[in-house]
Amino acid sequence: MLDAIRWDSDLIRRYDLAGPRYTSYPTAVQFHSQVGTFDLFHALRDSRKALRPLSLYVHVPFCANICYYCACNKVITKDRGRALPYLQRLEQEIQLIACHLDPAQKVEQLHFGGGTPTFLSHDELRQLMAHLRKHFNLLEDDSGDYGIEIDPREADWSTMGLLRELGFNRVSIGLQDLDPAVQRAVNRLQSLEETRAVIDAARTLQFRSINIDLIYGLPKQTPENFARTVEEVISLQPDRLSVFNYAHLPERFMPQRRINDNELPAPAQKLEMLERTIEQLTAAGYRYIGMDHFALPDDELAIAQEEETLQRNFQGYTTHGHCDLIGLGVSAISQIGDLYCQNSSDLNEYQNTLAAAQLATSRGLVCNADDRLRRAVIQQLICNFSLEFAAIEQQFNIDFQGYFGALWPQLQGMASDGLIALDRERIAVLPAGRLLVRSVCMVFDAYLEQQNRQRFSRVI
Ligand SMILES: C[S@@+](CC[C@H](N)C(=O)[O-])C[C@H]1O[C@@H](n2cnc3c(N)ncnc32)[C@H](O)[C@@H]1O
Ligand code: SF4
Repeated sequence: MLDAIRWDSDLIRRYDLAGPRYTSYPTAVQFHSQVGTFDLFHALRDSRKALRPLSLYVHVPFCANICYYCACNKVITKDRGRALPYLQRLEQEIQLIACHLDPAQKVEQLHFGGGTPTFLSHDELRQLMAHLRKHFNLLEDDSGDYGIEIDPREADWSTMGLLRELGFNRVSIGLQDLDPAVQRAVNRLQSLEETRAVIDAARTLQFRSINIDLIYGLPKQTPENFARTVEEVISLQPDRLSVFNYAHLPERFMPQRRINDNELPAPAQKLEMLERTIEQLTAAGYRYIGMDHFALPDDELAIAQEEETLQRNFQGYTTHGHCDLIGLGVSAISQIGDLYCQNSSDLNEYQNTLAAAQLATSRGLVCNADDRLRRAVIQQLICNFSLEFAAIEQQFNIDFQGYFGALWPQLQGMASDGLIALDRERIAVLPAGRLLVRSVCMVFDAYLEQQNRQRFSRVI
């Protein structure tokens, strides 16, 4: 299970298809507008009856500066005053949702994402957390996983102190690349010292886990300069690393049009960057968790993967997949039992709807039986790199080969290419197939043919 991944350029070239990242199945592309607040209330009632634990996601969309590569839902503004009306509506949303849940439902996981959550002032952060505490059952003994995304240009020692005091114990730091030429090309100037200061503060203040985000494939990156970034990052010793492939979709993300196409590294160079990064990280003791994520062996994600309890949701790999996920804020996604639903991604619409005392749910999906089955299959493959047919047969009362018979020729092709081992009982994703695990998942995706593959970035 924990064998090292094996690099096979030939397989990577052949199976490097555009595809989803499977933070959910069905993916958000399938969400539709027939799902609304009625479905949300229904799902919240089930959650309350079952007293399921909760994972809260709070979206803060504002950023003071634009990073040209950015594909996140954000609003760029220097006007800090824009936070206040947003927070008023967010507090209303918190109240409207919480009154449908039971105060006994514990919040095991909390995540502030963005945008830039620390765009908010200290007072605003304090007030937002006080409001969350008033309406939800937050754990007060530091036993929850309470994380926040940090842009080191927007946080200092006092911010980190405040966050710890407010109950956060994990940080995810955006770094992307340290090379000045790359930073200029993407309009994100961030020194190593700024990043180091935030990490020093997090360690001193006993945050439990530090994650760093990197992106490969940015303009002006070369295998050599990216290897230097990775070397510096290893010296910072984060517990986890996300190494994202730059998704360049300028037709969807306006700011990316400011990136010069001819400054982007060629596919062969990107492959070399990834290969060298994996070599460097493996040599430094990091384990490949899957889908862009690496972790030190004593990190919870690595341990959960070893114990086969790892799961995947909108927050990526998680040890809290058993929780109902409540998304709060503009564009936030909830996953409650079999319901997925998403708030409006338009800031004005979100604020105006809540101003009229209504929830801003704009689209979503209720899983049918086939979705639930395929979701379980994809979860197993993407988290454990293996799938026992008997477990699925028992859980869903089907004959696996009978149900998925039409997929067998494709799976057999992957087996003879050395991506997977396939027999009558299981699929095991082999070391050479692990970097391509989503290509294996894609075989089980019933919606893929109907979709425009252009919407997705490539696997690698
Ligand atoms: C919401 S942002 C991070 C938080 C914070 N705003 C910051 O930049 O430090 C989440 C992460 O998504 C990644 N990301 C954003 N745009 C991307 C793109 N086009 N392709 C790949 N990764 C991207 C970056 O690594 C970024 O750190
Ligand atoms: S990468 Fe982070 S800071 Fe930059 S624009 Fe995106 S959300 Fe904002």
